[in-house]
Amino acid sequence: MSDILIHVEAGVQTLTINRVAKKNSFTPAMYAAMAQALEQSSTDAGVRVTVIQGDISVFSAGNDIEDFLKRKPDGEESPAFSFLRAIAQYPKPLIAAVCGPAVGVGTTLLFHCDLVYAGDNAAFSMPFVNLGLCPEAASSLLVPQMMGYHRAAEALLLGEPFMAEAALEVGLVNRIVPPTEVNGMAQAQARKLAAKPLGSLVETKRLMKKGQMAQVLAQMAEEGESFARLLQEPAAKEAFTAFLEKRKPDFTKS
Ligand code: COA
Repeated sequence: MSDILIHVEAGVQTLTINRVAKKNSFTPAMYAAMAQALEQSSTDAGVRVTVIQGDISVFSAGNDIEDFLKRKPDGEESPAFSFLRAIAQYPKPLIAAVCGPAVGVGTTLLFHCDLVYAGDNAAFSMPFVNLGLCPEAASSLLVPQMMGYHRAAEALLLGEPFMAEAALEVGLVNRIVPPTEVNGMAQAQARKLAAKPLGSLVETKRLMKKGQMAQVLAQMAEEGESFARLLQEPAAKEAFTAFLEKRKPDFTKS
């Protein structure tokens, strides 16, 4: 079975991250599938709203760590970057349903969704520094903007996880419900949106986002360059190897 399931029904496209054995971490093929689904549905009249969901136990553990170890410094050419550009510029309403851990890009993609529903088991984290990396998906711009600088520093410098209640308080999450109800809530809201005039939805989203779209894309490109450089450095290699060897990283030499 595919690692990204795509289902379209009554104008609602649902993308399910489906690699639970590896905690829904993203491989290049998964980014490519997500990017393609977003790009194609941007102009497909049969899709009016897209929902992204994971499993009840985990939304996504972020980028696949083995892929990080193997990845060439391809920066903006990578499937990951295509996905980030596609999600940042997606013209139609985008809803996320989040249960369990949402790590790295599992959290940063949410800053590009219009509505986010979370289970009370949701745990968000952006441990880029702990992996010898730096933020991506324009999170170095959007996280301080949404949370305020000091809470952003806790999340991005210390890489501290925060739970659903904190995410609700800062405005990253619209509503918290029991995990068994999250996907249903996202679908119900998607059906409401799908019944509205698409032209008005698209124009309203465009107007809300246009003020900083250029800045978001520029930030993403700059982050991408730094990220690609840091991926090749000893600290990142040590962090990835330590994760795969199930030990604590030793950064004393990097
Ligand atoms: N990349 C590749 N494999 C991953 C992964 C990732 N990002 N996250 C989890 N896995 C794998 C583990 O290696 C393990 O594989 P194994 O069964 O073959 O040993 C399996 O998924 C289960 O993971 P485990 O860590 O045992 O699950 P857990 O429930 O104890 O913890 C997480 C879940 C998500 C908190 C934890 O897996 C985690 O922190 N993952 C890494 C997150 C990360 O740093 N992502 C990169 C962000 S930029």
